[in-house]
Amino acid sequence: MARPSRLTCTACGAVHSKWSGRCDACGEWNSIVEEAPLSAQAHRAGLGGGRGSPLHLTDLATAEAPPPRTASGLAELDRVLGGGLVPASAILVGGDPGIGKSTLLLQGAAAFANAGLKSLYVSGEEASAQVRMRAQRLGLAASPVRLAAATSLRDILTTLEAEQPDVVVIDSIQTMWSDAVESAPGSVAQVRAAAHELTSFAKRRGVSVILVGHVTKEGQIAGPRVVEHMVDTVLYFEGERGHQFRILRAVKNRFGPADEIGVFEMTGGGLAEVANPSALFLSERDRPAPGSAVFAGVEGTRPILCEFQALVAPSTLGQARRSVVGWDGGRLSMILAVLEARCGIPYSGLDVYLNVAGGLRVTEPAADLAAAAALLSAREDVALPEGVVVFGEIGLSGMLRPVAQTEARMREAAKLGFTGAILPERSTAGPADAGFAQHRLADLAAFVGENFGAG
Ligand code: TYD
Ligand code: MG
Repeated sequence: MARPSRLTCTACGAVHSKWSGRCDACGEWNSIVEEAPLSAQAHRAGLGGGRGSPLHLTDLATAEAPPPRTASGLAELDRVLGGGLVPASAILVGGDPGIGKSTLLLQGAAAFANAGLKSLYVSGEEASAQVRMRAQRLGLAASPVRLAAATSLRDILTTLEAEQPDVVVIDSIQTMWSDAVESAPGSVAQVRAAAHELTSFAKRRGVSVILVGHVTKEGQIAGPRVVEHMVDTVLYFEGERGHQFRILRAVKNRFGPADEIGVFEMTGGGLAEVANPSALFLSERDRPAPGSAVFAGVEGTRPILCEFQALVAPSTLGQARRSVVGWDGGRLSMILAVLEARCGIPYSGLDVYLNVAGGLRVTEPAADLAAAAALLSAREDVALPEGVVVFGEIGLSGMLRPVAQTEARMREAAKLGFTGAILPERSTAGPADAGFAQHRLADLAAFVGENFGAG
């Protein structure tokens, strides 16, 4: 007897009796998908139907050593993983098509192989010959990576069972299909089933599985967020197409800090690691110009300096433009509102463009003051003082709020030749470095008064 499939919201999990464009439980658009029915056996057994076997219970206090991690030797990759690859872990690497995921993971597979792990690369998108050509171009042709072009999950699991590799790359999860699920490859049900099979295989057999996932234009790993819940670690590979910098960001990590980033540069010979990202992000900058502010940021455990650039011009349209790259549009609106309401500096009738140089995406609230500084500097056409970095969160009242890791930010700035910082008044005391000036301010109005006259 055929059981009907269920309509489920991928965002909140609510079950619906009929399809609609919007989930009325959580309000998410286009999130309702058809779910495959339970297998016949599972359906017959029900939850209480069969007698299960008792769980194997242990104590919290068992003195087991933490699993040994394997470093690939690609320092930026190891950093994002939290210090290397944990055995039997499941990792999802998401990113836009063409951003360099296959390149990164082929290099990663080779690096792990060279570090002594048995590594396997399964491509569902390219023929083996294509992957081999890429390996040649990357100078990896001699690496002991085993290669296969396949999309059938059953074949892949059988192979993994026989080969017993330490790490396997699946490129990509959207191309894999399981014959136990009736929908087409790439559908939510298929992606979910494939991810589930592979991650449970990882746990069962002690194989680390790295899944590649394409991101849809809405910015989600195509299909289900559920995949993100299944894996231990979720990494996003980001960057501007046409820009050579690429950032690998840990958005979830059960084995290390989230928000850690690794910085790479896409070259003719593959991805090169960038050991000193601050220098890289500031490299295109010569003299302080109006509209530019250097933000002393922290990404994960690492301080990183980058440049906020703003352009403010009279609007020719009825509705003034607000365009932002590398930062949050909502946050920009908030800063503009605070500048108008608390400092009396309106941006109405002005087009505003804000850009974080170098393709970095900044999410810290600590960047508020840097954004405001760039916006003010652009509007007033006055450059900020030379050699100064800026950081601090701005409250709706215009107050400057202290942020975490004040010392690390200033130390990085000093290391790169900056001579001072503008920061919130109540920040924790930084190192009393001779030659590094700390300029502490209570609110945004004080910042405006000091740098741009009375506003
Ligand atoms: P790819 O890894 O195929 O991207 P994804 O798997 O995320 O779709 O990389 C695609 C781009 O990278 C491609 O446009 C060419 C560029 N590239 C280089 O610039 N240098 C290289 O050495 C390689 C292998 C790719
Ligand atoms: Mg690819």
